Amino acid sequence: MTTTAGILDIAITRNEHSKIGEIDFENLTFGKNFSDHMLMADFENGRWGDFRIVPFGNFEIHPSMASLHYGQALFEGLKAYKSPEGEILLFRPMENARRMNRSAERLCMAQMPEEMFIEALTTFLDIEREWVSNKEGCSLYVRPFMFGTEPFLGVKPSDSYRFMIITSPVGNYYDGAIKVKVEMEYTRAAKGGTGTAKAAGNYGAALYPAKMGQDKGYRQLVWTDAAEHKYIEESGTMNIFFVIDGKIITPSLDSGTILAGVTRDSIIQVAKAWGWPIEERKISVEEVVENINNKKLTEVFGAGTAATIAQIQLMHIGGIDYTLPEVETREFSNKVGKYLSDLRTGKIDDPFGWVVRI
Ligand code: COI
Repeated sequence: MTTTAGILDIAITRNEHSKIGEIDFENLTFGKNFSDHMLMADFENGRWGDFRIVPFGNFEIHPSMASLHYGQALFEGLKAYKSPEGEILLFRPMENARRMNRSAERLCMAQMPEEMFIEALTTFLDIEREWVSNKEGCSLYVRPFMFGTEPFLGVKPSDSYRFMIITSPVGNYYDGAIKVKVEMEYTRAAKGGTGTAKAAGNYGAALYPAKMGQDKGYRQLVWTDAAEHKYIEESGTMNIFFVIDGKIITPSLDSGTILAGVTRDSIIQVAKAWGWPIEERKISVEEVVENINNKKLTEVFGAGTAATIAQIQLMHIGGIDYTLPEVETREFSNKVGKYLSDLRTGKIDDPFGWVVRI
């Protein structure tokens, strides 16, 4: 075992039996394969400690562990890429550190100083660097997560937490343009709820309506507001953007029900820098239908870390399938998708200062 010299003193136990030779990097299913190690840390008596990197594998939990019963669990997602020079590149990891703490606050969980998060993350990725493939479209998906560990069945915030990082080599989340169903009955998040937090429970609660859509051939749902099902919010696993009459429009975060995606924010900043008109505002289902019909709507796409830019080819709205313009004709999303991909993989200059090199 070795330890690092940073602020954390991370204990490292190497896995003697790497699985990397067993991985088919040409055919990766999202989240099915895991790298050789995992990082763990525990929050006890009011402080984070015992940071350790150990061989990936099962671990013990107490059957009454708080998060299993009352859902104090959150996660983050980011991707590591390899530059042409062989460096490991992370895209805006500080945003994940900040968002994790915002989620933790909403779920009454322990927060982690941002520099601690970044040191844990970069030390871990340095250990797993050979798992970051430089193949086109490949990356190492990084999943930091945290859950309450106190063994107690009373309903209250846990006194203790575990923070972990696991990584999974991945290709594209979606294998092409997708069909989506605009959900007008079930709800992802209501005002005052946990919609802005990356709470594990948000995803669990979405599974049933998502499955009903998938059974009818729609890969994802597009959520609408809980009160009236009138306004578009976000899609499953990603935020959503429209291009209407040359303007880029995405639902604003003011509703307090939408996840503040890092890719979403990056697209907004890039669009502004390129001088495209961009509006963060409410967008109604009615406005979308009207502009599909009058052909002013030229692009619809999802944006997220796992999904990157996911083109939407068809929207099912109120019983009607609306086929959207051909993906090849979509000027903004194709351009911004390539730009962000080149930025994340270190192929072009980084005028925003977003890329962190390890
Ligand atoms: C991510 O893009 O990192 C996400 O959190 C989506 C995930 C649920 C697949």
